[in-house]
Amino acid sequence: MEKDIEKILLSEEEISAKVSELGSILSEEYAGKNPLVICVLRGAAPFMTDLVRRMTIPLEMDFMAVSSYGKSTQSSGIVRIMKDLDTSVEDRHVLVVEDIIDSGLTLSYLVDNLERRNAASVKVVTLLDKPARRAVDLKPHFSGFQIPDAFVVGYGLDYAEKYRNLPYIGILKPSVYS
Ligand code: XMP
Ligand code: MG
Repeated sequence: MEKDIEKILLSEEEISAKVSELGSILSEEYAGKNPLVICVLRGAAPFMTDLVRRMTIPLEMDFMAVSSYGKSTQSSGIVRIMKDLDTSVEDRHVLVVEDIIDSGLTLSYLVDNLERRNAASVKVVTLLDKPARRAVDLKPHFSGFQIPDAFVVGYGLDYAEKYRNLPYIGILKPSVYS
């Protein structure tokens, strides 16, 4: 185990089983709809690429990057689009793929933004959900794991851009960031 990790919260095997399960559910949900699957960069990239390979239906992929103004560990709710989609979402069934929902501020901005572009539908799949810290009324339509209020890294999630490549999700030792 990486020395900065206090505890493994979700193993590679647990993540993989959950991604397969979500892939089956989403394949049924979006059959015949040619969904536009949107990865919110950068954290959701490993989840997105694993998830689409567990979806057995035709789909398209696109990528978006957003950043929230304010302190680095907390969302401000004011979101800036750093990289926009290349595809028009008008009349498309859009599935937003997120790594983690914390306050929910980033995602509620994004969902609102996509709905105003006249998507046929906008739904959210998140691998991790930290409901304890929610600041807005937002529930993901599809969710992998509910996790406690701890700072986690790995499988796309970072601290200062590190640990994204860990194959598992772990709780970071507080000594690393304090
Ligand atoms: P919201 O707007 O829901 O923001 O507060 C979600 C974003 O916050 C980041 N985040 C984390 N990143 N470990 C991380 O590596 C965590 O435990 C964590 N909690 C929130 C993440 O960028 C997510 O997209
Ligand atoms: Mg993120």
